[in-house]
Amino acid sequence: MSISTPHWIAPSILSADFSRLGAEIEDVLNAGADIIHFDVMDNHYVPNLTIGPLVLQSLRKAGINCTMDVHLMVKPVDRLIGDFLDAGADIISIHPESTEHLHRTLSLIREGGAKPGLVFNPATPLTVLAEVIELIDLVLIMSVNPGFGGQAFIPSSLARLTRARGLIDQQQRNIRLEIDGGIKADNIAAAAAAGADTFVAGSAIFGSNDYAATIAAMRKALAGA
Ligand code: DX5
Ligand code: ZN
Repeated sequence: MSISTPHWIAPSILSADFSRLGAEIEDVLNAGADIIHFDVMDNHYVPNLTIGPLVLQSLRKAGINCTMDVHLMVKPVDRLIGDFLDAGADIISIHPESTEHLHRTLSLIREGGAKPGLVFNPATPLTVLAEVIELIDLVLIMSVNPGFGGQAFIPSSLARLTRARGLIDQQQRNIRLEIDGGIKADNIAAAAAAGADTFVAGSAIFGSNDYAATIAAMRKALAGA
């Protein structure tokens, strides 16, 4: 990994208190979060239902201007992309299984002015990555099966990170490598050593009593990675 690439910690609001979502986001940003991970689930592509573009729009209207990393777990996905672009998404990541025409969907995101990301479930082959790597700014390796917070990290994800890192490093562009699922202070260094530079953590952060202490513990572990 390029030495100049900073580590980003991305709290997933899936585990936040939704009755006070704006305050929760401000709290984790003040506690040292770099970006906010916004999980969108449709009870079709994944067996859970969360939040949509109206919520993102409300957060923007309330003055939350951080980088919003939108993870779309919806199928079909294309029609929602325009809504998330309008709502103020900065990064929009999609799963290859959620679209019939991956090239078109990634291009829609880019043409709309956001950064396209591609997400790989634990059993999804990484083969398609080489075909579309020039179209994307972020690769997300799922280290749990998508749908729920609080699941255990799948250890074989580390080898998948390393393989993705190898493909990314052949490019002449900065492409971020994100890991999502079961990340905590005690395994974040292993993910970094395997090549990740962006770390989603939902339950580990929002389930803790002191967001700043938890993020600091993660940064301390990363400093030793
Ligand atoms: C799972 C989501 C994750 C989830 C991670 O489908 O994509 O972003 O919030 O939660 P933790 O960190 O609790 O595994
Ligand atoms: Zn996610």
